[in-house]
Amino acid sequence: MHNVVLIPGDGIGKEITKSVTTILETAGAEMNWVRCSAGESANKELGNPLPQETLDAIEKHRIVLKGPLTTPVGAGFRSINVALRQKFNLYSNIRPARSLPNIESPFRGVDLVLFRENTQGLYIGKEHWIDDEEKHAESIAVVTREASEKIITAAFEYAKKFGRKKITLVHKANILKLTTGLFLTIGKEISAKYPEIEFEDLIVDNMAMQMVMRPQRFDVIVTTNLFGDILSDLASGLVGGLGVTGAANIGDDAAMFEAVHGSAPDIAGKGLANPTALLFSSLMMLEYLNEGRVAEKIRSAVYTVLQEHKSSCTRDVGGEGTTATYTEAICRLLRD
Ligand code: NAI
Ligand code: MG
Repeated sequence: MHNVVLIPGDGIGKEITKSVTTILETAGAEMNWVRCSAGESANKELGNPLPQETLDAIEKHRIVLKGPLTTPVGAGFRSINVALRQKFNLYSNIRPARSLPNIESPFRGVDLVLFRENTQGLYIGKEHWIDDEEKHAESIAVVTREASEKIITAAFEYAKKFGRKKITLVHKANILKLTTGLFLTIGKEISAKYPEIEFEDLIVDNMAMQMVMRPQRFDVIVTTNLFGDILSDLASGLVGGLGVTGAANIGDDAAMFEAVHGSAPDIAGKGLANPTALLFSSLMMLEYLNEGRVAEKIRSAVYTVLQEHKSSCTRDVGGEGTTATYTEAICRLLRD
């Protein structure tokens, strides 16, 4: 039995976590869900977007499956997603993008995995006003040797474990010579230890173009926080969008699996949410828990439903169904 902290989150969070827990249970995964709250809903109910009991539960169980959390724009509490990644030092954000059967997309045969450094860069929250009139703001980016070594090593180790052939390191060392320059230097150093894996580096703007022109040429990608944030959404767009891509945040002794899309307030409560992104994240979780066989069984059921029961799928992927009909179509195959 695996103890996993389950945070349904805001908006469509409840609907998609219900779908995912149903599918995992139907597939025979032995899960003990420790339900906790966070985000806007926790803020309303408990006066705290990140309650202490949620932190305590994560501290204890070290594995989290999390629905989307609403972050207020401008004033208000800081992103809980960012806070959790920093607090538990979940330095690797891992985002696979693999072409799916029968999903509208201009590309076929995309199969890449993007590793984004998750704790530093421009996302450390060090922003301040320079002047009293609030006409001049400044933001600080941090890149350390230690964190860069960890994320780049994680990408190489992943490539080794899953038989991937090539790492592309993305940077902007021509302009940001110290911060992303350091990241590039460390990438070159580490690549020397993995002679069997091809290594290349690309400047981020060129990378953006290459990814939409010939995404099939990429295998494993590793980059700093801001570039990774943007390119990982781009990668999702290559294979059908945020509704169908999963993500893992992994550190040395804790891991959090989440959907990459937000809380979708426009469709919340209507039964229209596509649970596939969170489901794919939960499959990464099963792999992390050495339950790869159950994960494969579920993945294959999802592919079959997309291919052969498209009408049961949700509208965002061209189906005519709801969260419930899609979930049931997958469960029916798992029960057979
Ligand atoms: P969003 O991802 O919530 O929605 C963008 C569009 O995609 C909407 O039209 C929505 O209906 C659709 N969509 C998203 N997920 C879907 C799904 N599973 N099935 C079907 N359609 C789906 O992004 P938005 O509107 O920019 O952000 C809303 C809130 O979510 C904000 O408060 C934001 O801060 C938060 N957010 C949270 C994230 C997280 O917890 N990891 C990530 C991104 C945004
Ligand atoms: Mg993002």
